[in-house]
Formats: sequence, structure tokens, C-alpha cells
Amino acid sequence: MYNQPMLRDDALQGKTIVITGGGTGLGKAMGLYFLKLGANLVITSRKLDVLQKTAAEMEQETGGKVLALACDVRDYQQVEQVLAETLKAFGKVDSLLNNAAGNFISPTERLSANAFSTIIDIVLKGSVNCTLAFGKHWISEKQPASVLNIVTTYAFTGSAYVVPSACAKGGVLAMTRSLAVEWGKYGIRTNAIAPGPFPTKGAWERLLPGELAEKFDFKNRVPLKRVGEHQELANLAAFLISDFAGYINGEVISIDGGEWLQGAGQFNGLEAIPDELWDSFEQMTRSAKGS
Ligand code: HXC
Ligand code: NAP
Repeated sequence: MYNQPMLRDDALQGKTIVITGGGTGLGKAMGLYFLKLGANLVITSRKLDVLQKTAAEMEQETGGKVLALACDVRDYQQVEQVLAETLKAFGKVDSLLNNAAGNFISPTERLSANAFSTIIDIVLKGSVNCTLAFGKHWISEKQPASVLNIVTTYAFTGSAYVVPSACAKGGVLAMTRSLAVEWGKYGIRTNAIAPGPFPTKGAWERLLPGELAEKFDFKNRVPLKRVGEHQELANLAAFLISDFAGYINGEVISIDGGEWLQGAGQFNGLEAIPDELWDSFEQMTRSAKGS
């Protein structure tokens, strides 16, 4: 298993990157790696105390600069404030990583209208708010930039029991591909990553509560028979944000050990057939020749 840093040390030198939901989980892991590669970092979410603790840890580990800003991505004015504070602190901003999300499992018919829209507002409207505010700025400044959106593989397959999240992530994926074309002329690249299972406290508490964590062990669904390492995601995110990916635009890259395809191929379930049985099946399929 490869869990070492991938890019050369100065790969993000001088870049300023804003990560929504950057105080915890995958946002924190990606941010830490961006800092190690020389970036200035802005991390935002609703809980300033969490962000400040993460920022202090990150600065201590890397010697880099981290600005922690409270911002609910559902509120456009708060997003504009993040942009203003970022420019004040670092003079410019190069990349936006739309990572903030809300999610929980539930049969859809049990959801209130407010529960459904809460997820849509955080995931879809939040990503739209940030992309719009930062995009307007980059276009008026004539500055090349990049947006990276964290979606999921069920953004393209759909998934039962997380329907608001699937709708919202599907919307973010549509925005990714649409703006890649529309804003390409401004030098703004827009890409997405679709992670499979990467254990985090935030996701596991809401998606695998209680005994579900054992009963529905994600690694059994993955052809590679393991979950993702945070550094593996950080490597991909850093590459997509870096200038090495300068010609990648409008792409969504799955990093899931083959999980979503496992559920897609009609015969994938034949994995369960023991070796001994294949001999007799072969005889039968061979004898079917000419019939
Ligand atoms: C049913 C629920 C619910 C639940 C909340 N609600 N939790 N309904 N089942 N488990 C309802 C509430 O009753 C309310 O509706 C509405 O949703 C809003 O709830 P609030 O608690 O007021 O919302 P808020 O404080 O904004 O919190 C948002 C949240 C919370 C999404 C509910 O869980 C949160 O803050 N999450 C952030 C982090 C997160 O979710 N991380 C996981 C991302 S994982 P009513 O009608 O009562 O007002 C991910 C991975 C995908 O996306 C793929 C994995 C493989
Ligand atoms: P996480 O730690 O819970 O991260 C979600 C972050 O979003 C939190 O830091 C949270 O901080 C922030 N957030 C939530 N609502 C917000 C709001 N209204 N405004 C601003 N920030 C808000 O979970 P994670 O697993 O790292 O998830 C990170 C991303 O990866 C998400 O986009 C998720 O959908 C995606 N993903 C994860 C997995 C996985 O297996 N873990 C798989 C596929 C995709 P506050 O509570 O402080 O606001």
C-alpha cells in the first residue's frame, strides 16, 4: 500500500488555497499536504475553535501559514468575507477546494423537507456559493485559477438511503463539467474527485452508526479489499491543484479501489464461486458449443 507523499517538495510553492470544511477529516489531510508542498492555506467551516486547533497543529508540523476563518458555506455573505480576508492576508488566492459537506443515512420517506434541504444547502448551494464568489473575483482580476470539488462515486450512480447527498453531489458534478467549459476561457480549471470509503470521524458517525460499522464493513465492497489512506487522496488532490495538471479540466477522478464498478458489472458477483466449481462450469459452457 502506498501512503507516502507523491509530489516534489515545492509543487505548490507560493499558491494560496482555500479549503471549505478544512478543520477535520479529509479536508484536514489534504490541507496538511498542501502546506508541506509550500502552499499558504485558508481553512474554513462553522466551528472556529476546531479550525484554530487544526491551524495551530498544521503550522507547528510544517512551519507554513494557515488562516482559520469561520464560514457557513450556505451564507453567500460569509463566503465573500472569506475571500476578502484571504486577499488581505495573502494578497491573492489560486485555488478553491469545495470539501465541506453534510450527510446522514436515512430512508428518504422519514426525512422532513428541512432535513432534505439542509443537505442540499450545505453540499450544492455551499459549493455554488464558494465557486461563484471566487470565480467572479478571478474573472475580474484576469487570474488563472483552479477549483477542485469533492464529490462521491454515487454522484454518478445514485445511492439509496443518502438521497439528498446523492442529489447534491450530482449537482456539484454537473457544475464541475459545465464550468470547466464555460470558464476555461478565463484560465480557470474545474475538476472533481470522487472518493470511495476513506474513514473519518465525521462520515463514519453519520453513515455507519453503532453496529453498522461491523455489519456493513466498507472494505468488503472494495475489489482491493481495503479502505483508502488519507495520503492517497491528498496526493491526487495536490496533483490536480498543481500546475502539473494544467491541461486537466472538467475531469472527475474516482479513487475508490474499484468500489463503484464492483457493483456495476452484471457478473461481478461470480467472485463468490469457489475454484472447484469453475472446472465443472467450464465443461458445461464448452459442451454448449454448437447447440
Ligand atoms: C433524519 C435528521 C438527522 C438524521 C438531522 N436531521 N439529522 N433527520 N435523520 N440523522 C434533520 C433535523 O431534524 C432537521 O430537520 C434538519 O435535518 C437539519 O438538522 P440540524 O441539526 O438543524 O442541521 P445542522 O445543524 O445544519 O447540521 C447539519 C447536519 C449535521 C448535516 C444534520 O450532521 C452536520 O453538521 N454534518 C456536517 C458533517 C458531516 O455530515 N460529515 C459527513 C460527510 S460524509 P427538522 O425538520 O427537524 O428541522 C460524506 C461521505 C459520502 O458526505 C460518501 C461516503 C462513502
Ligand atoms: P467531515 O470531517 O465531517 O468533513 C465535513 C466538513 O464540512 C467538516 O469540517 C464540517 O465542519 C464542514 N461543514 C459542514 N457543514 C458546513 C457548513 N454549512 N459550512 C461550512 N462547513 C461545513 O467528513 P469527511 O469524511 O472528511 O468529508 C469531507 C468530504 O469528503 C465531503 O465532501 C464528503 O462528502 C467527501 N467524501 C468523504 C468520503 C469518506 O469516506 N470520508 C467519501 C466520499 C466523499 P463544521 O462542522 O465545523 O462546519
